[in-house]
Amino acid sequence: MDWGLQNRLSRIIQPEDGHTVMLAVDHGYFLGPISKLERPREVIEPLLPYTDAVMPTRGVVRNCIDPNANVPVVLRVSGGNSVIGEDLSREGITTGIEEAIRINASAMALSIYVGAKHEHQTLLNFAHLVDEGQRYGIPCLAVTAVGKELAKRDARYLGLACRIAAELGAHFVKTYYCEEFEKVVDGCPVPLVIAGGPKLETVYDAFRIAADAIAQGAIGVDMGRNIWQSEHPVAAIRAVRAIVHEGATADQAGKLFDDIKTGKA
Ligand code: R5P
Repeated sequence: MDWGLQNRLSRIIQPEDGHTVMLAVDHGYFLGPISKLERPREVIEPLLPYTDAVMPTRGVVRNCIDPNANVPVVLRVSGGNSVIGEDLSREGITTGIEEAIRINASAMALSIYVGAKHEHQTLLNFAHLVDEGQRYGIPCLAVTAVGKELAKRDARYLGLACRIAAELGAHFVKTYYCEEFEKVVDGCPVPLVIAGGPKLETVYDAFRIAADAIAQGAIGVDMGRNIWQSEHPVAAIRAVRAIVHEGATADQAGKLFDDIKTGKA
């Protein structure tokens, strides 16, 4: 791997343990001011000390993140859709490689919509991004988007989408946790991180999927809503961090969350 590309990747995936805690805050690119992320700066700043990399759009980078904050940016570079638009899968590349370089992005992230109406377009978008990333030494993260069809989150579908992403040259892939997740990991020759998805019933459920995903071979998380829609976002990310970097179980993470919440830790 090219030195610069490896160097950028190692800012995100911690060389000490090969794991990462990424904070996803890119939701506004198609969801607008989603609940609890209305003012991104206020959400992001307290979480930065516990975050290995942050995943925003360029608009949020430029307006809501202090350039002196030494946090690696995984820059969301796809969009052009909206939650009320014709079809969520109709995405293009919205941020060019020069802008990614200007922002000093450590990686670029783009959604692929396997099986959707605009599958072909999004896969070619990703292949193009990988060519650009290879040229300038910037890793590319494929996000296996499911749009509104949450039913697609099974090992067969996600295994297919992750493998296609890897075949197109993804340096790492973001997907969802599912039953038989080890099959998804097994068929994907590049590192996988999991999204949290919509807010689960309790934060403890999010700890459970994070712990199960790590146990089954994910190298980390790229979590958003289950952290910053929690009543206690700092406690939530610290608990997730304990799972990802310290091997904490879901129960141990839950106890840590309770202790931080009540001021005991
Ligand atoms: C889609 O909205 C984005 O790519 C999010 O970054 C992704 O879904 C991860 O965030 P969450 O944990 O909220 O699902």
